[in-house]
Amino acid sequence: MVHADASNFAPGVTKEDAYEQVLLQAEGLFYEQRNWVCNLSNAAALLWHAYKSLPSPSNAVNWAGFYTFDTLSTPAQPQLILGPFQGKVACQTITFGRGVCGAAAATGKTQLVPDVDAFPGHIACDGDSRSEVVVPIVVGGKVVAIVDVDCAVKDGFDDVDRVWLEKLAELIGNSCDWPQ
Ligand code: SME
Repeated sequence: MVHADASNFAPGVTKEDAYEQVLLQAEGLFYEQRNWVCNLSNAAALLWHAYKSLPSPSNAVNWAGFYTFDTLSTPAQPQLILGPFQGKVACQTITFGRGVCGAAAATGKTQLVPDVDAFPGHIACDGDSRSEVVVPIVVGGKVVAIVDVDCAVKDGFDDVDRVWLEKLAELIGNSCDWPQ
């Protein structure tokens, strides 16, 4: 039975423990549920509440969510389209290769950006964002979506974020039926 308490994180929790809880709760929520809108929505909510329960810089996260592969885009110009998220409204589509999300989609590699102003082509959906981490969700060798988290301070993310978001990306990739 789904309960909102799944997104309550204990005060003083470490970042590792918070991410572990995100993964465990996500696994539970994805049980017998493979709809990608449903699962990405719950994953965005879990991430958002996890960051808000942590000390600085994690509690300065100002956007956490997903872009999915846009099945209406062409092979000549593949693009991402906005998916479920928490935070302010964001750019609807991103061409592969553009900005941090587009770089992750085009390369299939995590992008850990300590200072977005130093990243060529960074797309400033929200001028408050100062650092960003983007992890591709790869299924069968194809990028089906990306996880994007923005932070309102520089150096908002480190290898702990990378490692856990990559685990989450793998879980999500295996737990959803993706639009073809
Ligand atoms: N800053 C991102 C765009 C997406 S938003 O941050 C939600 C980028 O450069 O890809």
